[in-house]
Amino acid sequence: MPEWTVSRTRSQELFQEIAHWVAGGETSYARQMGTFPLVIARSEGPFLYDEDGLRYIDYCCGYGVNLFGHNPPWLVEAVCQAIRIMGPHFAFPHRLYAEVGERIAAFFPSIEQVRFANSGTEAVMAVVRLARAITGRPCIVKFEGAYHGWADPVCVGWQASSGEGPAPESAGVLPEAVASVLLCPFNDLEAVEACLEARGLEIAAILVEPVLGSGGLLQPAPGFLQGLRALADRYGALLIFDEVLTGFRISPGGAQALYGVRPDLTVLGKILGGGFALAAFGGPRELMRPVAEGRVVHGGTYTGSPTVLAAARAVLDRLAREGSAFYRTLAERTERLARGIEAAMHAAGLVGHVRRIASMLLPVFGPSSDDARTYRDLVALQDAARYRRFCELLVRYGVFAHRFPLGRWFLSAAHTEEILEESLDRIAQACMDLARELG
Ligand SMILES: Cc1ncc(COP(=O)(O)O)c(C=O)c1O
Repeated sequence: MPEWTVSRTRSQELFQEIAHWVAGGETSYARQMGTFPLVIARSEGPFLYDEDGLRYIDYCCGYGVNLFGHNPPWLVEAVCQAIRIMGPHFAFPHRLYAEVGERIAAFFPSIEQVRFANSGTEAVMAVVRLARAITGRPCIVKFEGAYHGWADPVCVGWQASSGEGPAPESAGVLPEAVASVLLCPFNDLEAVEACLEARGLEIAAILVEPVLGSGGLLQPAPGFLQGLRALADRYGALLIFDEVLTGFRISPGGAQALYGVRPDLTVLGKILGGGFALAAFGGPRELMRPVAEGRVVHGGTYTGSPTVLAAARAVLDRLAREGSAFYRTLAERTERLARGIEAAMHAAGLVGHVRRIASMLLPVFGPSSDDARTYRDLVALQDAARYRRFCELLVRYGVFAHRFPLGRWFLSAAHTEEILEESLDRIAQACMDLARELG
């Protein structure tokens, strides 16, 4: 019997128990998935193994964290070595502060100094506060479909269900938080200019994901990021690149290296910590001065622990050794997977295409459109129900991808040609099943 037809009894039982003790059965709203509660027991390379012993080829990769696959032995060893000497945590400066800071600055020339945080959300909170302190202005420009974490200052966005204008993305977000966010469509420089023209003296920063990652994998149109740079300069606002997703993912130096635009401040996370809870924000010394002097409060019991910084040093050294060939191979494999998924969709008679940037991709159940430039364009293109069903069927066939309709799949170095081939076989079967269900 193929392994994917076996029932997930143990996973299901355990999930009931988990949900009894843990609200929602999860510790992140984004992972509360509904129909297929997978309880994972083990991970290695491209694979997750659930409590029933079933294996999944994972295209979530810890939400883009695991660039080298799950549980790489060199990373585990580097962290264990640091812990054996320093312990997991002591809350004092240690040599890894400088070693990681220096390495980040080598990858990101716009960064002279950093501060370490425990998550992208925390780093974004800090950098928004810093921008407000530097400029003395209250508002930020944010883009529709962008994700900058779940904290109040950025938990505001556009949703088709909430009509026009910014809306809180969570119950409990104060109207003041909503009022301090000015939303613009991604890739629409004219809209940003109009916004700055109207409210420029109130705007502390333009906060942008240089590639809209959680909003449908949208590339910046030629000149868009350069235009933001010019507008920020003209109106005295700071330009902040949230490279939590793109940093070390779309190029070793992130989107700023790829597109040749220098932000004032940058936020990093995910790949940086190799799976440990680490993010960072940074920029020129002058802009980091309010943090250095303690006028802008940024802290945390756990920030910069030996555990997380040992992981970061190992990741950054590995990336420095790998060089550009590593990224080229990842991009080629992602392209191959993307074309294979399209072929599987079409062979099953499904309308669809696959968006791809570097080692991220997104299957879209909707006609291909070169005109898709904004988040709203992509919301209109993607058949969300069909995408979610596709992901459910994939789980049955031992392939895991996140069910969020405008999320993205991530490849890692562990996704070899053989793994891609196996994935494509299974994806083809899921497409056939989906087509059959649709009649
Ligand atoms: C661009 C971006 N910014 C910020 C965050 C929040 O980071 P974290 O989940 O570490 O809080 C994410 C998470 O997916 C992200 O993709």
